[in-house]
Amino acid sequence: MSKDRVLSGMRPTGFMHLGHYHGALKNWVSLQSQHECFYFVADWHALTSHYDDPRVIEQSTFDMVTDWLAAGLDPNQCTIFLQSQVPQHAELTVLLGMITPLGWLERVPTYKEQQENLKEKDLTTYGFLGYPLMQAADIVVYRAQHVPVGEDQVSHLEITREIARRFNHIYGREPGFEEKAAAAVKKLGGKLGKQYEAMKTAYNQDGNAEALAQAKALVAAAGSLSNAEKDMLQAFLTGARKTILPEPQALLTPTSKIIGLDGRKMSKSYGNGIDLREPPAAVEQKIKRMPTDPKRARRTDPGNPDDCPVWTLHQVYSNDETKAWVRQGCTTAGIGCLECKQPVIDAVNAELAPMQERIREIEAKPGYVKDVLAAGCVRARQAAEATMLEVRQAMGLAKV
Ligand code: TRP
Ligand code: SF4
Repeated sequence: MSKDRVLSGMRPTGFMHLGHYHGALKNWVSLQSQHECFYFVADWHALTSHYDDPRVIEQSTFDMVTDWLAAGLDPNQCTIFLQSQVPQHAELTVLLGMITPLGWLERVPTYKEQQENLKEKDLTTYGFLGYPLMQAADIVVYRAQHVPVGEDQVSHLEITREIARRFNHIYGREPGFEEKAAAAVKKLGGKLGKQYEAMKTAYNQDGNAEALAQAKALVAAAGSLSNAEKDMLQAFLTGARKTILPEPQALLTPTSKIIGLDGRKMSKSYGNGIDLREPPAAVEQKIKRMPTDPKRARRTDPGNPDDCPVWTLHQVYSNDETKAWVRQGCTTAGIGCLECKQPVIDAVNAELAPMQERIREIEAKPGYVKDVLAAGCVRARQAAEATMLEVRQAMGLAKV
């Protein structure tokens, strides 16, 4: 039995923090034993927005992959690779660009958002507009079924499915079938035939599921067709087209959002994170300085955990008993905030200790991370090339 494929990527941002671990990496680790997983460093993606800052990308790549391995990714169970070393991603980006309407890219919500957020950068570039298209290529080049991503990436998965559907619609033809189906459509009669065609296009090109249901009903009710012809036209609506590029699904698995030390989302650019490499004393300092429910200005003021960023850490790290102790102690001013923070400090340090041990082991073996990536790239290129052979043929590109 072949396992489902999972693919995900991250931009090279260097050292990983707890937000990366609980929001993505931990989930990647648990998927590696259940699926055929491909995880990659999206270094071309980094250039779509940070094209003027290339010096940090290489070191960030090695730091990030070291942390991936320390967090538990096992190169014997999953494939870890570097996007820019697998040229098939670029080739498929070019080819999918031929069929991707500009409007689809302009309408991706992150396009306008990011341009607003990064005002100091000129992001009116071709590469930046094309970034969701490159992401689509990243995914479909492996024919991945599942893509573990955060909420913020769901719109990218949607456009990926639209592009894959359009590709299959245009290039997934079976010889001879078209003609037979066209003859059956003719037998439907002028008006019904036109309706059938319009609904079929609405489904295949725009994913209109209602149009598909209507077309199926139309065929089923057609008096002019034999049962065999009905079957054929039903199949023609969807299945007769060869699925060269399957549509992936977002895998929104239970991950936890770790709030940053200042109550905002944990992010490197806000400087509010706890790195996986954070020394225990620094973990303690950072959590001790974390703001709490502002109502607890004095030790004797009661508070509410729901208004406290420390509570989000308890939700990740504490068992029911500790959580009940927090709620009780906070709302009655029975415990102080420093007391409340101690179990979290201990839990974070206990979680990080084995990872930091592994980081030391990995960094004591120069070239190890490079070797892992090189071996991963070989496997990735093989998988991607298998798709590209079909893609090139479907698009009429000659082999010499
Ligand atoms: N866009 C993703 C991010 O910024 C990274 C990414 C690139 C990715 N290609 C991907 C994620 C393919 C999943 C699948 O986080
Ligand atoms: Fe936050 Fe705990 Fe202080 Fe309540 S007691 S405000 S939950 S740190």
